[in-house]
Amino acid sequence: MLNTLSGKIIANLFFEPSTRTLNSFEIAAKRLGAFVLNTRLDTSSLAKGETVFDMVKNLEAMGASVFIIRHSNQKVIEEMSQQLNPQTTLINAGGGEEEHPSQALLDLFTISCHKPHFHHLTIAMIGDIRHSRVAHSFISAITKFGKPNIRLIAPLSLVPSHLNNTISVINNIEEGLKGADVVICLRLQKERIDEKTWASLQDFSADYCLTEERLQYAKPDVIVMHPGPMNRGVEISNAVADGKQSIILEQVNNGVAIRMALLELLSSVSF
Ligand code: NCD
Repeated sequence: MLNTLSGKIIANLFFEPSTRTLNSFEIAAKRLGAFVLNTRLDTSSLAKGETVFDMVKNLEAMGASVFIIRHSNQKVIEEMSQQLNPQTTLINAGGGEEEHPSQALLDLFTISCHKPHFHHLTIAMIGDIRHSRVAHSFISAITKFGKPNIRLIAPLSLVPSHLNNTISVINNIEEGLKGADVVICLRLQKERIDEKTWASLQDFSADYCLTEERLQYAKPDVIVMHPGPMNRGVEISNAVADGKQSIILEQVNNGVAIRMALLELLSSVSF
């Protein structure tokens, strides 16, 4: 137990479900000696009509100096950052389809533990890339450190409409997996998929589930990642999720260390 954040109040405000991000931020903050508020949003005064902004300003008035926020609308998080005192810190723990920066950091760190040179890696992302803030943050982060070959393996309805020309889209999973060093599976984010697209995805697992047979197309030392939560049997089979190429629980474990590093770094420049 360290005391870098001793006496600091950190508020976790998660307006969307979370297991890994919420708990790892809480563990990270407590390991650094902070006092963590996990405000129950369903029993807060939001239910009485208070705005999110008033709620945050009130918690700030009680001494909270760091807000860790997840919201279905990235703009709400951006607006909140404008409303807070300049010395208050806001960490985006997942904003809409757009941003999930701490996940990107833990993903890069986890890859670097196995494959330290990002430049020539072939990275295959399978599944719902369009609605995935994990994918968007990951692509923008990794392309700052190197020029990997990124392949998106998904039906067209699940591929982002704007892509830069260093990224290829491959509809066939076996083709897309050929020679891959890293495979990242992503959940179908039903909460963000419209009904028409959902109806067209009934064959998704037959066409795109990562099975042991399909993984044979990748390099022998391929690593398999997933940000969680997994829908076993949909985007990833049990055998792959629990298999020897899987580093999924390593990602989770690294999530605590990365979030400790993030909190410590931010505490040295602000709160
Ligand atoms: C993801 C998220 O919430 O964006 N999970 C996570 O934070 N580890 C991915 C998802 O919900 O599918």
